[in-house]
Amino acid sequence: MKFSTRAEKIEPFYVMEVAKAAQALARDVAGTNSPMIFLNIGEPDFTAPPLVQEAADRAVRAGITQYTNALGLEALREKISQWYRDRFGVNVPAQRVVVTAGASAALQLACLALIERGDEILMPDPSYPCNRHFVSAAEGTAVLIPTTAQERYQLSAAKVEAAWGERTRGVLLASPSNPTGTSIAPDELRSIHKVVKERGGITIIDEIYLGLSYDEAFGQSALAIDDDIISINSFSKYFNMTGWRLGWMVVPEAMVPVVERLAQNLFICASTISQHAALACFEPDSINEYEQRRAQFKARRDYFIPALNELGLNVPVMPDGAFYAWADCTQAAQRLGVDGSWDFAFELMKRAHLAITPGRDFGIADTGRFVRFSTANSMAQLQEAVARLKQLIG
Ligand SMILES: Cc1ncc(COP(=O)(O)O)c(C=O)c1O
Repeated sequence: MKFSTRAEKIEPFYVMEVAKAAQALARDVAGTNSPMIFLNIGEPDFTAPPLVQEAADRAVRAGITQYTNALGLEALREKISQWYRDRFGVNVPAQRVVVTAGASAALQLACLALIERGDEILMPDPSYPCNRHFVSAAEGTAVLIPTTAQERYQLSAAKVEAAWGERTRGVLLASPSNPTGTSIAPDELRSIHKVVKERGGITIIDEIYLGLSYDEAFGQSALAIDDDIISINSFSKYFNMTGWRLGWMVVPEAMVPVVERLAQNLFICASTISQHAALACFEPDSINEYEQRRAQFKARRDYFIPALNELGLNVPVMPDGAFYAWADCTQAAQRLGVDGSWDFAFELMKRAHLAITPGRDFGIADTGRFVRFSTANSMAQLQEAVARLKQLIG
């Protein structure tokens, strides 16, 4: 069978190889006093709060399960618009909000709407692997630009300016980032967008972790900067609804009909049940619950990152959001007699029953030295993980 060049260009998700090995080992050690601890998973350990579950249940029982408008339920678009006002003080008219099947569908729609074959999109290295694959699925080319700890592993205006070429169409950023949990400083983002706009380009920013920000200086939406910016968001992370497949994007007004046409054809609409359920995310009780969980995520970060640093798993920049730790494992790998983050991850899995993610998927520049820990796990599990790390490399 012959497959498209487009499909062949999509690289495998190496993370899954590690995850498969971890699952297999987990079965073997399940009954022992050292069961597998999963710190490799990029999703909250919480599920949707009660009001959201009840709303989903009500929608199912009442038979409200037909297709919705391709842009999403009016009421949900209004609630999202209100959330931007309440939480970030930004005015985002509901007409510019498009509800999608997760951020993944939103990224796909944005790329298909804006990228021509051969267009280049600048992205930081490291970054979330699927984002560059959305670009290649639209037959564009993702250009990975190595970043440093001083730059918070994000692009800078100077680097965007230097990298801009004839085929450059724009930038695709993520703030806070996966795998680093670090954000772009608002002033830097303003400068990046200025460089992009002056060149007639587009700024797409993945703000899927924005709800999980722990630092006022960074936790601001790029939508405050300019109505031209395309922001991607999701119910997966802050709202703890990964499997419900619901997200959204905010686009410039002129782009709405284009995205609507694409969405009608490619997806018809996002899940109706999930949309009705998500209306309840914005009830005061749900927001209270989410804010308590955000405080828990912050407490986990505040415990886990210093513990990693003490063990020589150096996290060069304290994450200001999300639930990841991007750690240099050079020293720790040496202590285990292995070289590089891929072997280190497998060694930790075998010897300490800790599943983590090697850097390889996230870029090419420096990822052989780094591993990603996810702190989306209970404090007790994180403490046990630290105890096992201490025993092995402390
Ligand atoms: C940076 C980033 N963007 C997008 C996604 C996709 O999220 P969704 O579940 O909303 O499709 C993820 C998922 O981990 C992510 O980390």
